[in-house]
Amino acid sequence: MRLSVIGTGYLGATHAACMAELGHDVVGIDSDSAKVDSLIAGRVPFFEPGLPEVLQRNLAAGRLRFSTDPADAADAQVHFVCVGTPQKASAYGADLTQIWAAVDALAPHLRQPTLVAGKSTVPVGTAAEMTARFQAAAPAGADVHVAWNPEFLREGHAVADTLHPDRLVAGVTDPVDEARLREVYAALLAEGTPWLVTDLPTAELVKVSANAFLATKISFINAMSEVCEATGADVVTLSKALGMDPRIGEQFLRAGLGFGGGCLPKDIRAFMARAGELGVDQALTFLREVDEINLRRRRRTVDLAREAVGGRFRDRQVAVWGAAFKPNSDDVRDSPALDVAAAIYTEGGEVVVHDPRAMDNARESFPHLAYADSPQEAVAGADVVLLLTEWRDYLDIDPHTIAAAMRDRVVVDARNALDLSLWRAAGFTYRGLGRPGA
Ligand code: UGA
Repeated sequence: MRLSVIGTGYLGATHAACMAELGHDVVGIDSDSAKVDSLIAGRVPFFEPGLPEVLQRNLAAGRLRFSTDPADAADAQVHFVCVGTPQKASAYGADLTQIWAAVDALAPHLRQPTLVAGKSTVPVGTAAEMTARFQAAAPAGADVHVAWNPEFLREGHAVADTLHPDRLVAGVTDPVDEARLREVYAALLAEGTPWLVTDLPTAELVKVSANAFLATKISFINAMSEVCEATGADVVTLSKALGMDPRIGEQFLRAGLGFGGGCLPKDIRAFMARAGELGVDQALTFLREVDEINLRRRRRTVDLAREAVGGRFRDRQVAVWGAAFKPNSDDVRDSPALDVAAAIYTEGGEVVVHDPRAMDNARESFPHLAYADSPQEAVAGADVVLLLTEWRDYLDIDPHTIAAAMRDRVVVDARNALDLSLWRAAGFTYRGLGRPGA
């Protein structure tokens, strides 16, 4: 099929390359010419394991193109809208500027009956408004239908999540639109991927409520962390025991510094804002608590680090391992790690940050912090080392090899990911979140 993908960020670049991998003829459209040039040259402008290979293979096969000109999308049979929906600058709601810009850019080029399938995470009701805007702006005869086909990919696993998803959700208003989407995903459906067909608002809600549930699960275990800290209990064992109950499940139950990134934090806030507009704000007030528990873990990590260096950061050197919001990503949007690093810097600490992949993005957002080229260089002369993003690289470091380089041997494991007995054996004082006795 001929497909277009509007917006080529994390979601759009992955979707475009993976749809070409399924054999479709795909054009990716983005107004950012630097991004488009990079993709044309076979370079993914962010770190995503496996994506460069898929991109290059499909560019070479001639199935994948990129352009800044929306006219190049004109003859696509399905247009996927994958633009960003960030948090508004000074409110909780989602900023839909890019969604409406995509509608305005695409509408004049639509000539035949067309299906536009939204994939971006949006406030419920956006698809209906999009339909109205397309109908007003597209030329007569275009007959634009809108469907909603939310995306559940995780950064760091984007290719596998797109090519082998847990489920495909199609919000449609017409059986013809469902048939067209089935054709797009025929290869995945043949593999047995569950296919759920529903209306537009349900499809929009599936995505935000999935992210709200995941955020709630993380904050639940982090709330238990606070109780563990008050009682001497160990949240790591608690989490393991809870996760063994199949009704609860072990995933997203890792206690620690909490969630960040470009999705969960802004999605729960946008969901609360939308609920307020719909008059059901009470239904989601618990998400405010989810957000607050999450942010409290960042402050608790700063407190633990301060205690570890004797009560104040002035004249103390703090090594920070990890800047990305999670491992296997170079994304530093709302990164808990950088939030903690910046808070310690503000209190007068000398902060030296290392990350295997996110150094450039971290430097751009926090130019005043110091950066080291290796985890070993970051700890040289440090009074404490903080593990803030649990990259494999850090878990594999033998603490014996860094102990001598540090001024004091203290580690704060804010992801509860290090081998506690190994670090103790190397002479370190170990502090974890929710593990007062550890
Ligand atoms: C999230 C969802 O998991 C995806 O399903 C969704 O498609 C995506 O948002 C999106 O809306 O686009 P992502 O932001 O890539 O994906 O990251 P996650 O793997 O969900 O991790 C989010 C944060 O939670 C990270 O900061 C991670 O460190 C933290 N986390 C995760 C925990 O603190 N504990 C856990 O047990 C799991």
